Amino acid sequence: MKDIKYIRDYYNKYYTNELDFYWNKTKILNAFKTYENDYRQGKWLSKRMGIKGNETILDCGCGVGGVMKQISLLHPKTEIYGINVSDEQIEMAKQLLNKLDNCSLSVQDFMNTNYKDNTFDIVYFCESICHNNFEKVITESRRILKPNGILYIKDLVIKCSKDKLKENELIKLNNFIKSWCYEVFDIETIINKIDNIGGFELINNKRFIKPSIHWFNAVRNSSLKEYHNARTSAIPPIRGADFLYKKI
Ligand SMILES: C[S@@+](CC[C@H](N)C(=O)[O-])C[C@H]1O[C@@H](n2cnc3c(N)ncnc32)[C@H](O)[C@@H]1O
Repeated sequence: MKDIKYIRDYYNKYYTNELDFYWNKTKILNAFKTYENDYRQGKWLSKRMGIKGNETILDCGCGVGGVMKQISLLHPKTEIYGINVSDEQIEMAKQLLNKLDNCSLSVQDFMNTNYKDNTFDIVYFCESICHNNFEKVITESRRILKPNGILYIKDLVIKCSKDKLKENELIKLNNFIKSWCYEVFDIETIINKIDNIGGFELINNKRFIKPSIHWFNAVRNSSLKEYHNARTSAIPPIRGADFLYKKI
């Protein structure tokens, strides 16, 4: 697991102006999107989170603000806060969201925020939790969520636990984890981790999609290609999945 400074520098360096090809198509940085179109992806995410329209919401690891923008446009009466350790991405997000007065941004680590207890109706993570220490993230989310508040996590998952993978799948997975500074677990492991930390009830969990074509093309067409192997044959058997929890 990389430390927070590494994550900040990595996103500042590679995920700002490097991905021009990608930026032209999308402002949502999910590599495992259900839709390539940002509006449809935002609609899908809103539905999965059960947004009604008047909630106070926190986007943890908000990237350049793409998901916030879509949710804000769909639900103008929500109040949406976005935090990110990458100060350069926050600057890009400020430009993207400058006309949306229900969105606020700040540079913060979501393992240790400055929000008061019981602040949010919904706290969500779109492909950001797996860079981090699960225990710290879930404990902080529980603290800042209101009673009965919603925790939504969408991330990558491996098809089964690591000890059940074939040898070549495990090699690919370990290379993937090292290069993308990500940790990847199977669904059962994630559910067990959150159960052990406690304070949440699982409402829904879904496994769905493959990596985004735009995403891998973008990596191949930027200087990231020197750093990451984005060949399809190098990708371990991973998919996107989501987890919807209620604070109890
Ligand atoms: C793969 S990107 C996804 C961005 C965004 N959620 C989206 O879907 O467009 C992961 C993001 O999480 C942020 N991040 C990772 N760890 C973080 C932490 N501990 N606190 C705040 N932001 C973090 C990164 O800087 C990056 O913006």
